[in-house]
Amino acid sequence: MLTGSAYADDRHIRSRGAIYAYAETPAGPRWRTSMIPWDGTQVVADVGCGNGFDLRQLVPQGRCRHAIGLDLSAGMLSSLRDLRQTGRLSLVQADAQHLPLPDASVDVAMAMHMLYHVPDVGAAIRELRRITRPDGTVLASTNSPAHLAEIAALMNTAISSQLGGSVQAVPADSFTTQTGTALLSREFSSVTLHSLDVPLSIPSAQPVIRYVASLREPTLAMVGESLDFDAVLDDIAMKVEQDIRTQGSFRATTHMGVFVCR
Ligand SMILES: C[S@@+](CC[C@H](N)C(=O)[O-])C[C@H]1O[C@@H](n2cnc3c(N)ncnc32)[C@H](O)[C@@H]1O
Repeated sequence: MLTGSAYADDRHIRSRGAIYAYAETPAGPRWRTSMIPWDGTQVVADVGCGNGFDLRQLVPQGRCRHAIGLDLSAGMLSSLRDLRQTGRLSLVQADAQHLPLPDASVDVAMAMHMLYHVPDVGAAIRELRRITRPDGTVLASTNSPAHLAEIAALMNTAISSQLGGSVQAVPADSFTTQTGTALLSREFSSVTLHSLDVPLSIPSAQPVIRYVASLREPTLAMVGESLDFDAVLDDIAMKVEQDIRTQGSFRATTHMGVFVCR
């Protein structure tokens, strides 16, 4: 599912990312890595690097000495081929639960918005600890359960009315800003959460529909293929447009955070 559809390439991740353009107070693309004093000497591993949201802030500018982008999906890694021309990036197809890197081989390991996909989160956290030098840092970002709850509520309502019963269509994540401290503290003596809540004001239904449409496959896998997902999208579009008519925009809030672990 992850490598065959959800993350076969970076199409869906880009659709979801596009919604952050409507932030009322944009945080800037470097907020997640701003806790590290990058000085061009660090070796960094970005585990579950996706299409390189963070690597694109570090590699071209030479803010790190070398970066290793690792991901389960070959399609995701291929979206990063252009960055390899810098000579400062290696790409490796790998599972976060079994990283093909030696002990204590990186100064910084990152696991950004990916630990909630890993079946054995504990194993992935142990791997992050193992590959990071004793005096290094691990960054792990994730969402709060309240992240974009306004969109999750629209999805749950539309899907429940389609299926004729109360359905929790948006699954509860295993690794969130609420569960992360306990999970990471098993391996790290210091775990600090930096939270970021950003209100979005979205002037048309299209970005919301693109966001929800990007979740088609995982949603159908969870609630069943009989769901008419296009009807769900129509239902949500109608409600979002109604909000825009009465309030001028559709409003939702992102709630996320980065754990800094040492
Ligand atoms: C939500 S995306 C995040 C991508 C990027 N870190 C970011 O924050 O933009 C999750 C990524 O984790 C990858 N992934 C999921 N499970 C993985 C695993 N067990 N090992 C390595 N990568 C994995 C997916 O292929 C996908 O590229």
